[in-house]
Amino acid sequence: MERRTAFAPSDVAYFANLCHNCGECYYACPYTPPHEFAVNVPKLLAELRAQSYRECARPRWYGAGVALPALALCLVIFLAGTHENAPAAGQFYSVISHSTMVAIFGAATIFVAIALGASLMRFAKGPGASMDSKAFAQALRDAASLRYLSGGDSASSARRWFHHFTFYGFLLCFASTTSAAIDHYLLGLRAPYPFLSAPVLLGTLGGIGLLAGPAGLFFLKRHRDPLIVDSHQHRADAFFLAILFLTSLTGLLLLILRNWTAMNVLLRLHLAVVLALFLTMPYGKFVHGFYRFAALVRYAFEAASSAGRKAV
Ligand code: HEM
Ligand code: SF4
Repeated sequence: MERRTAFAPSDVAYFANLCHNCGECYYACPYTPPHEFAVNVPKLLAELRAQSYRECARPRWYGAGVALPALALCLVIFLAGTHENAPAAGQFYSVISHSTMVAIFGAATIFVAIALGASLMRFAKGPGASMDSKAFAQALRDAASLRYLSGGDSASSARRWFHHFTFYGFLLCFASTTSAAIDHYLLGLRAPYPFLSAPVLLGTLGGIGLLAGPAGLFFLKRHRDPLIVDSHQHRADAFFLAILFLTSLTGLLLLILRNWTAMNVLLRLHLAVVLALFLTMPYGKFVHGFYRFAALVRYAFEAASSAGRKAV
């Protein structure tokens, strides 16, 4: 903000997604409520952030009102045939065939990629995503270390750590699925995979992160100062935390109980939760990762350009 003497409307979404909601400015500012100016930057930026999620989503759906019916639909799709078969121990594909899984998740992936791409293009059109490779690399480092949550009090630091568990847990789970696809298609190996294999080791580590991270973030959320958060976001945020937690919980239970008859229901439950996570990605809090990253790229680009000007 200090770099600007005038603000374009498109700057607003950029600032909003750059703010990490650490709350420091609120506690440092002498004009916060009950002062008559009632300045509350973190809350205002949180509201503008949510507005950017709603406005950029294509189609324009957003929030728990979309997410809950999507989860219900996924549960119906997968649990409908639970009574049909009693699978042999560990035989996932006798519950739901590999080709059915690929068809459902392939279609979902294409839909999500198009919807997320359209939302991101819409977002980038507003604040703009000026960048070069250096700015991109800097933004990658800032996002990977969550640099702008590293200052502040112990609560900010705890939020940062639990976010790391969530973020890297998610990436490890993604890596686990990718390595399973490589095993299946390139090496001809079929699930269930041994405990000491890449898909299981990556999935177990990621799953633990994806249990601890969302649980910790939920705990911290309940103890945050209600004055600096956007209470209208609670349901959408809670859904995102819950669906990440449930993805991991059902996945780990499936691993532990894969040789039991309960595997039938657990596999269906796990697939339903993962599909709901997938389908709601463009219409919930998940988009923050993309918009925040675009904002960090632009910030790194502006910071480098302004340092260059000063040097001249
Ligand atoms: C470019 C990458 C990312 C950045 C810079 C980033 C940054 C942030 C920041 C600053 C917050 C706190 C403020 C807010 O609630 O908006 C947050 C919240 C959160 N992030 Fe990320 N994030 C990224 C990607 C991800 C990914 C990939 C996941 C997991 C799939 C994730 C999971 C979460 C969760 C669960 C919260 C909610 C915490 C709550 O509601 O209390 N983030 N993120
Ligand atoms: S990042 Fe922290 S200090 Fe900066 S605007 Fe957001 S809440 Fe205020």
